[in-house]
Amino acid sequence: MYPKLTINVAYYKDNLRYMHNLLKRHHIKLVPVTKVFRADDVLMDLINQSDIDTVADSRIGNLKAMKTTKKKMLLRIPMMSEVEDVIKYADISCNSEINVIEALNHEAKKQKKRHEIIIMYDIGDLREGIYYKADDLGFIERIKALKQIHILGIGTNLTCYGGVIPTQKTYQKLKEIKERVEKILGYPLEVISGGNSSSLPLVMDEKLPKYINQLRVGEALVCGRETAYGHDIIGMHQDVFTLSAEIIELKLKPSKPEGKIGVDAFGHRVRFQDRGMIKRAILALGKQDIALDQLTPPAGVTILGSSSDHLIVELDNDSYKVGDKIQFGLTYGGILSLMTSPYVEKNYVL
Ligand SMILES: Cc1ncc(COP(=O)(O)O)c(C=O)c1O
Repeated sequence: MYPKLTINVAYYKDNLRYMHNLLKRHHIKLVPVTKVFRADDVLMDLINQSDIDTVADSRIGNLKAMKTTKKKMLLRIPMMSEVEDVIKYADISCNSEINVIEALNHEAKKQKKRHEIIIMYDIGDLREGIYYKADDLGFIERIKALKQIHILGIGTNLTCYGGVIPTQKTYQKLKEIKERVEKILGYPLEVISGGNSSSLPLVMDEKLPKYINQLRVGEALVCGRETAYGHDIIGMHQDVFTLSAEIIELKLKPSKPEGKIGVDAFGHRVRFQDRGMIKRAILALGKQDIALDQLTPPAGVTILGSSSDHLIVELDNDSYKVGDKIQFGLTYGGILSLMTSPYVEKNYVL
């Protein structure tokens, strides 16, 4: 069935090993993030076979379905409405709201469990976390009093909302937070979870501050790329996931629509250049599966546009015919939507 998402299991294994070894050499624990492949069993098996001790996902549903003996970390700060499941299915959760942490404590008592938390701090990217300039003394003191909650460490997330790139200067803020929190707690924190795939350039340049001992990595493992500057990591595979879609129409047609022009199927006003007659193919793939800017076409193929079920491309040669498949490279966001679509076949290559 097409569209077909091909998942190269051996490539993921290589990437996992590469990243694990890179971080190990720097005394950093790798926490693989599994949300992009919905913690699917085949790739989870590779993580299970490694000596990695913790895996992370943003969705409690994925943690619930996950088959692993590793510690499970919930990345997205929990909804108050999912507290019961968080205690049931996650060993660790990332948190920034005292009321939720107190609810977790209450629920953990009910389930006779001890729950570990990473307190998230916002050091400038402006997504989740206690703002680094805020007075957090009362916050930490209140958590300290909770019997079923253990503060495992602190964490921060960068380059997600504000696009803030991790630098030694930015990480100075986290260091000050670490020292302050440890002073309040009276013991050293076990985990300083410094970020995601955007922290990798600092690791590779030997510039990641030594006090950071954990990174939560998703994109680099599936795209072989760091996310601060978007550079490929030499030695990793960029094509763990690729997509094939089938040509359902191939015709010579004008490059510019004819008639009075309004908006497209999604309400956008589209502009066209008249370049005369061009070779156009329609592929059975659409916005319902993936946004077109998440696809990288092969040489000789240019993406012109898409509607919900049709992707329109221009071909610069005669080598294709109806029924042929075209293979695309994918962004992380593209993989995320394809893995979530029931209309896309998943094909594992071992
Ligand atoms: C809190 C948190 N940490 C880490 C990650 C992983 O980020 P990346 O895929 O850039 O490595 C994400 C996103 O999935 C996240 O939300």
